[in-house]
Amino acid sequence: MLEQCATELIHIERAPQFCNISMKYFIANWKSHKTQTDAEAWLTAFQKLLTSNSAVQNKLIDGQISIVLCPSYVFLAGLKHSFLNLPHYSLGVQNVSPFPPGSYTGEVSARMLAGLAEWTIVGHSERRTYFHETNNDVSKKLELAQDSGLKTILCIRGPKDMVGDPATLIAYEPVEAIGTGKNASSKDILAMRKELNIQERRPFIYGGSVDANNCKEYIQTEGIDGFLVGTAALDPAIFFSIVSSY
Ligand code: PGA
Repeated sequence: MLEQCATELIHIERAPQFCNISMKYFIANWKSHKTQTDAEAWLTAFQKLLTSNSAVQNKLIDGQISIVLCPSYVFLAGLKHSFLNLPHYSLGVQNVSPFPPGSYTGEVSARMLAGLAEWTIVGHSERRTYFHETNNDVSKKLELAQDSGLKTILCIRGPKDMVGDPATLIAYEPVEAIGTGKNASSKDILAMRKELNIQERRPFIYGGSVDANNCKEYIQTEGIDGFLVGTAALDPAIFFSIVSSY
């Protein structure tokens, strides 16, 4: 009986964290770009735009939008220092170790990120391609990240990348659309959502050459709950115009 309760408790703790479905997510993925100076300049410029736009601030406060900035690990502590204290405005990371704290040279464990980041991207196609990450690695990362209280953004290129333990957000990023200017159509994104049988309550976002123009159509489309933005997020003004498209 006790054992059964313990199992149930673990199950509850590991249950996917469902988010507010009407919320739109704007996630900036800086990848391996920027220096400390660039990162600070970006944040200063972005927050200047944010503090001068009460409509966007109110949307954050009301939970209509969520903005997540994912810099390199090395900039996290510095950026956190000057990060505005607004609801649904947070820092994330682009990757997390598949191992717990221990003798794993060069790795950043989920536990280390507590208090520095709220979110982590997991399974980005560049990690799968250049660092040979498998779905097994991705599952371990999701589990450890969730156990440490991080919200997770699972990137998938298609159905084969879906793993058992679902993340907070699913980000559909077709390889041919990443960094190419060849963004997918809303129709194709919704078709993938349907094929994956993503429940209505689970946020499903899109990434792949999202820019200040094409975001306008996506943002009006029910079933596309936001964006994971690479290239267009390197410029604070462009990323802010994507955020304010909603
Ligand atoms: P992109 O990158 O916006 O430059 O296509 C998106 C991503 O890889 O997350």
